[in-house]
Amino acid sequence: MMDTKTVTAWTQQVARERARQAPPADFPALPDVPAGRYLDPDFFALERRALWARNWLYAGHVDQLLTRGSFFVWPHGSAPIIVIRGDDDEIRAFYNTCRHRGAPVVRTKEGQAGQRLVCGYHGWSYDRRGQLCEITERRDWGDQAMTSRGLVSVRCARFANFIFVCEDAGTEPLETFLAPIARFMTHLPLDDLRLVNRQAFEVKCNVKILIDNFLEAYHFKLLHPRTSDRIFDNQGTSIHLWQNGHSVMLSPNRRENWIDPGTLGMPEMASATAIERDHNPSYSVFPNLILPIAPTGMPAVTLWPKSVDTSVLEVLWFAPDWGGGPRDPLWEMRIQNFDRIVQEDIEFAVPMQATLASPGFRGVPLSYQERRLYHWHEEVDRRIGVENVPPGLRVVPCLAPHVE
Ligand code: FES
Ligand SMILES: [Fe+2]
Repeated sequence: MMDTKTVTAWTQQVARERARQAPPADFPALPDVPAGRYLDPDFFALERRALWARNWLYAGHVDQLLTRGSFFVWPHGSAPIIVIRGDDDEIRAFYNTCRHRGAPVVRTKEGQAGQRLVCGYHGWSYDRRGQLCEITERRDWGDQAMTSRGLVSVRCARFANFIFVCEDAGTEPLETFLAPIARFMTHLPLDDLRLVNRQAFEVKCNVKILIDNFLEAYHFKLLHPRTSDRIFDNQGTSIHLWQNGHSVMLSPNRRENWIDPGTLGMPEMASATAIERDHNPSYSVFPNLILPIAPTGMPAVTLWPKSVDTSVLEVLWFAPDWGGGPRDPLWEMRIQNFDRIVQEDIEFAVPMQATLASPGFRGVPLSYQERRLYHWHEEVDRRIGVENVPPGLRVVPCLAPHVE
């Protein structure tokens, strides 16, 4: 809960981080993260199967599904998944795979379905709950019972207006999975946040190069000298690690009472605290959703593996409801400014894929200030099952005593 006690404790922690001359005495030296985790195609396949296909993953925002029957196809699962608003306003997810011969049932990225989703190959049709309702040329099917051949559903749940999907039946409920991080957001009116903008970039590098990048502020000084580093004080960055791989990085504003001029006049979350006003609290929802929350809203960065050396970086913007109508013209500049930061990151990430593939890359040493990366990698192994990770690719669990 972001009560006064937490605000005070987090703020004091920032002051301690700024003042310290060395890592805390009880903080361990972290063993190197093995190089093969970024390069090995077998490890990539293992991550796909045992992490991405089993985890709850951000799929979209309810603003993408405003009317009954509206849908989008989410491309980041083990196969394309339809996410659709039903006639009962429930949002459901199904594999976009016809139960006849496996054709895609919908063939656009998003849209408005009629009462039926009709497969374009032979015309089998499904209702908005994914139930099979009609088979064309029924006479040829004898009396075979086809009622069990509805679209195969995928677990779908919401955290505020954010839609998550999970392909595995055995994974804990979304609420349980998010609980360690969600407790620090309950003061924010997340249900009122609207989707402002979406952009996606394909990036030629392993997804972990990008994820690692968004988990630390160590690179601000060199990569973002005119943006992030001017605004936030890296030396005061304080980190909280939580269960399930979640964490936050809290970088204080360099100047007291600083307000982003690009947000002046925009509606604010009234319940924002000194944490959001005087810092950049960048939350990481494991494994790939980065939320740097500000009172006037936030960009959300999601990072997706496409192949061992190709990823997709998506930037979404959420902001307090501005009461309909066109968005504030200031948004163009705000989006562009963040875009510049993201481009600075991407420009570095792409050549890194080649230099990581070199014999000169032996593993990754991480500092106290980079411990979120280590925490992230530890959780990857826990989710995959340490015994399933080839011994030379494992990270040695070290951070349990530092998880709150
Ligand atoms: S594959 Fe869909 S109706 Fe045949
Ligand atoms: Fe960056």
